[in-house]
Amino acid sequence: MSDTVIINEVGLRDGLQNQPVTVDTDTKARLARLLVDAGVRYLEPVSFVSPKAIPQMADAAALTPRLPADEGLHYTALVPNLKGYQLARDAGYRTVALVLSTTDTFNQRNLNMSLEQAAASCESIIAAARKDAVATRTYISGAFACPYDGPVPVSLPQQLTERMFAAGSDEVAIADTIGAGNPKQMKDIMTPLIREYGAEKFFVHLHDTRGLAAAMAWEAADLGVRRFDASVGGLGGCPFAPGATGNMATEDLVYLLESCGLKTGVDIQGLRDVVALAAEATQRPLGGRILEWMASQEKRGKTPCLW
Ligand code: COA
Ligand code: ZN
Repeated sequence: MSDTVIINEVGLRDGLQNQPVTVDTDTKARLARLLVDAGVRYLEPVSFVSPKAIPQMADAAALTPRLPADEGLHYTALVPNLKGYQLARDAGYRTVALVLSTTDTFNQRNLNMSLEQAAASCESIIAAARKDAVATRTYISGAFACPYDGPVPVSLPQQLTERMFAAGSDEVAIADTIGAGNPKQMKDIMTPLIREYGAEKFFVHLHDTRGLAAAMAWEAADLGVRRFDASVGGLGGCPFAPGATGNMATEDLVYLLESCGLKTGVDIQGLRDVVALAAEATQRPLGGRILEWMASQEKRGKTPCLW
C-alpha cells in the first residue's frame, strides 16, 4: 500500500460557493497561487453551474486562465449537467467532477432532477467525456445521509457507485456532504467497494459538522484510500444541504495523515498564509484545530513542533 496521499483542495469551489461574501476573481487566483506554493497539486477551483443557482461561481471561465500553470498540477471542475460539462471542457479542464445524490429530494433541490434523471444525466456526461478523452470523477453526494430524508442504507451509495463505474466513470468520490457519517459506516460502505474496484479508484470527501471527519478520514486511509478532498481553513458547505458546515480543514487532514506516517507533500506552515487570506476575503474566522494549537504554542514563545 502506497504511503503517498493525494490531497485535492476544494476550498475555492465547495468552500466559496456557500459564502455570503462573493470573493472576487483576483483574490481567488491569489488563493490558488498560495495553495500551490504550499505544495497542493490537486485543486477544484470552479464549478460550471447556473449563475442563478450559485452566483459565487459565475466567474469560472474568467478564473480558469488565471490559475497557476506550473507543471504537475491537476485541476477539476464540477459540472451539474451536460451544459456544464461542455463549458468545462471548452475552458480546458481534462477532469470533471459529476454529482449524484443518494435521494430524490436532494437531487431535486441540487440539480432540479429526480435520482433517476440525475443518474441518467451522469451517464450521458460520462459518455460525452469518454469521447473527448476527459476523465470523470463522480461524487456520490449524501452517501452517509441526506440533508432532507436522513440516513441512507450503505447499499445505496454502493449501488450508485456500481452504476457509475459501469457507465465508465474513471473514479468515484464517496461524499459525506453534511458531515453526518461515522467511521463504522465508512468501513461498511468502502470495504466491498475497495475489494471490487481497488482503493485507487476512490476519493473520500468529508465535512466536519459533528466532529467525526478525522476519524472517518483515518478509517478510509486504513482501508487503503489515498485520495481525499479537503478545504483550507475548513471552508465549505453546500447551499442545498441545510446544516452542513465546512469540509474537513486541509491543514487538519495533512496533520492527521503526516503524523501517521503518510506523505501529502503539503506544508502546513504554507497553508497558514492561505487561511489568512481566505479569512480576510470571506470576512469570517477560519482555520483547523492544528492552526489553533500552533498559534497557542507561539503565544507561549514556543516553536510548534509538528512531527
Ligand atoms: N452552467 C451555466 N448555466 C446553466 C447551466 C450550467 N451548467 N445549466 C443550465 N444553465 C442555464 C440555462 O442556460 C438556463 O439559462 P436561461 O434561464 O438564461 O435560459 C437556466 O440555467 C436554466 O436551465 P435549466 O436547464 O432549466 O436548469 P434548471 O433551472 O433546471 O437548473 C441546474 C439545473 C443544474 C443548472 C442548477 O440547478 C444548478 O446549476 N445547480 C448547481 C448546484 C450546485 O452547484 N450545487 C453545489 C455543488 S454539488
Ligand atoms: Zn462538500
